[in-house]
Amino acid sequence: MRYGFFDDINREYVITQPDTPLPWMNYLGCENYFGLISNTAGGYSFYKDARLRRISRYRYNNTPLDTGGRYLYIRDNDAGKKGKISRPYWSPTWMPTRDTLDEYECRHGQGYTVIKSKAHKIESQIRYFVPLGENLEIWELTLTNHRKSAANLSVFSAIEFCLWDAQDDSTNYQRNLSTGQVEIADGVIYHKTEYRERRNHFAYFACSEKLDGYDTQRETFLGQYRGWDSPVVVEKGFSGESVAYGWQPIGSHHVKVQLNPGQQKKIIFLLGYQENPKDRKFDPPDSQTINKKKVKPIITRYLRPANVEDAFDALRLHWDNLLGRIQVTTPDEHTNRMVNIWNAYQCMMTFNLSRSASYFESGIGRGMGFRDSNQDLLGFVHMIPDRARERLLDLATTQLKSGGAFHQYQPLTKEGNNEVGSGFNDDPLWLILATSAYVKETGDWAILDELVRYENERGTETPLLEHLQRALQYTLERLGPHGLPLIGRADWNDCLNLNCFSDTPGQSFQTTMNKEGKVAESVMIAGLFILAAKEMFAIANYLEDEDQAKKLKKEIASMEAAVWKSGWDGAWFRRAYDDFGKVLGSKKNKEGKIFIEPQGICIMAGLGLRGGKAAKALESVSKHLATRHGIMLQQPAFSEYYLHLGEISSYPPGYKENAGIFCHTNPWIVIAETMLGRGDRAHDYYLRINPSNREEISGLHKCEPYVYSQMIAGRDAPTHGEAKNSWLTGTAAWNFVAITQSILGIKPTLEGLEISPCIPTSWTGFDAVRVFRGTRYEIQVVRIGKGNKISLVVEGKHIHGKVVPLPRKRTKSIFVKVTIR
Ligand code: GLC
Ligand code: GLC
Repeated sequence: MRYGFFDDINREYVITQPDTPLPWMNYLGCENYFGLISNTAGGYSFYKDARLRRISRYRYNNTPLDTGGRYLYIRDNDAGKKGKISRPYWSPTWMPTRDTLDEYECRHGQGYTVIKSKAHKIESQIRYFVPLGENLEIWELTLTNHRKSAANLSVFSAIEFCLWDAQDDSTNYQRNLSTGQVEIADGVIYHKTEYRERRNHFAYFACSEKLDGYDTQRETFLGQYRGWDSPVVVEKGFSGESVAYGWQPIGSHHVKVQLNPGQQKKIIFLLGYQENPKDRKFDPPDSQTINKKKVKPIITRYLRPANVEDAFDALRLHWDNLLGRIQVTTPDEHTNRMVNIWNAYQCMMTFNLSRSASYFESGIGRGMGFRDSNQDLLGFVHMIPDRARERLLDLATTQLKSGGAFHQYQPLTKEGNNEVGSGFNDDPLWLILATSAYVKETGDWAILDELVRYENERGTETPLLEHLQRALQYTLERLGPHGLPLIGRADWNDCLNLNCFSDTPGQSFQTTMNKEGKVAESVMIAGLFILAAKEMFAIANYLEDEDQAKKLKKEIASMEAAVWKSGWDGAWFRRAYDDFGKVLGSKKNKEGKIFIEPQGICIMAGLGLRGGKAAKALESVSKHLATRHGIMLQQPAFSEYYLHLGEISSYPPGYKENAGIFCHTNPWIVIAETMLGRGDRAHDYYLRINPSNREEISGLHKCEPYVYSQMIAGRDAPTHGEAKNSWLTGTAAWNFVAITQSILGIKPTLEGLEISPCIPTSWTGFDAVRVFRGTRYEIQVVRIGKGNKISLVVEGKHIHGKVVPLPRKRTKSIFVKVTIR
């Protein structure tokens, strides 16, 4: 069952039914001001940090779903008189009143959402977006009267302010029911809770029309014991003119609108965030009145429709440019629209928000993950190389002197997070993959010479290259009894906690370590080490550092030997050794016999490509782990809680790391399949979790069909095929890498752009445009045989190998013809 359709020309997903299985979200904003917005206008906004600068409220885990949003109510002021409409008002976004709408359509695009509906012959369209460079959001309402008679309407707006710190806002009522303050001036509602003391920021809610009333106290607007679905003010048709003093500050405007038959009217609402210099907070200075000198011109500007239109065009252009860096035309529409639009868009959102704020991440939880951010970078480095550079240096600055890493850091302070600490032994290795991806994309070798601190500590600076070397060294200094890397708190699989042994309810599986950690080892980290060390080897060769290259070669060889000796199970790679030195991910195990991660990572590291072991491992994946909804993380699922395994066995079978389809890992197998030249199987796996390809089963899948989810329930769950945790997941970056670099084969390397597709046999070819180091590569791929043999013709000349030599500087575009036979 579908709830909408893709409009690829406009790069939108169009939802045609408001009651989707879950709220289907989009994001507003791409710089400092952000908002989540659902298909029924639910969601909230914040400035930079979803916890500490929350502008509006949202009620997670509430009923009905998706409570709190950017609401407008339309009231028919003649309804009572004619007695036609049972209730004189409705929500043009369906929520929160949930009245039946005669027409409904929500268009989610890149950084904007348009919700259009019709009820009682009144059409409404609301366009929500955040202009580039501004800390505000626009709600542009267009009303059209399709009646044969004049319409006498009222529009009420409603936003519920959050008292800034979202955590405190939802817990500390003894204080925060007595702090709320607002100002109402020139029709603008200002939210200024705590502005009197240490805050120098406030929010504002403005409207383009002369007001017929306003409210700023929630219970006056709603009425006691009423919800957002039936505000008493809207019901009665006049505002309470309430001025919040403590309790629950809200913003609501009331505007009366007379529309002749066929007449149309635009009303603009602005919700924004503004800071003032500390010494100029008040005007006059000795008053408690907000100084509005800076904010007024901004408000005036965006209350004018022409400026709104320009800002919207600028936003569209911004996304044209970002998405234009890679565009493909293949025979498969799901591939095309994910690569060209949605997957790239999702990668930008994971860049912006890491794992902080989504329908499944409350914005008050964790900081930026070290490994997450490094992997996310793989998906956005081609769109925003400068910001990728900055991100890399930020990450490296939080690295420990030992070469290890804080597991998380706080984006506002850019410091490592002490609460979560370190000791996730895979973490530092991802910095190598990210840095090397950046250098391949940009050719910016100078980044390796940048002097970067450790742990943010002055005087500890070394070149970034040394940070990477220390990351490898960190692994080498922590080898276990089998010569494999010690796992520490966990490796990529945060829930495989082999040193935790927690039997205390509520204890954190991630930060508790009850064992010394000198026994449990990870085959996955061994594979990741080899993968990272090979990147470092390529860099050393490029820099003609023979000593380093030699050293790395030796280290790689000895890690490979350790894997073959103790990490190979006969038909697949093992997963780990536990604290008792017992194997996990082996045919010897009753549960957890085979895991996906080491199969993907070890093969990506090049293990077993010759001699058939990689092929064998992939056969085992296909046999034991693959389902039609994607590849499960492990099998058989853990049927009970095992003290020595930790969080992984805390989930019911089929969910999350306990044998769920943890989508992040699926593209690793896709990449591995292409390394063996098996394009059919690679693309088949790619499609199983491709959200567009799953659109048809939206009723089962439940999450948005335009973005990846972290997890799809595995075969052991009664809800097999149902997705969760959409939007902010490493799945976005890895799928982007797998489809663009491995299947389509357009791959940045240190020497230039490699083009070596491994596509399905049924494809006759594809076309692509890729902007790489300032040059536009126009690529035409033609298949003339069933194999994978590639030959390249660049600007009419045959070249050897698969890498297009770097063109002369300032070459605008080059044409590459690729033949596969
Ligand atoms: C979550 C975490 C990520 C981890 C994964 C597997 O997605 O953000 O760091 O690798 O779970 O446990
Ligand atoms: C939970 C999640 C896991 C995540 C971890 C760390 O355990 O299940 O996916 O990686 O938290 O935040």
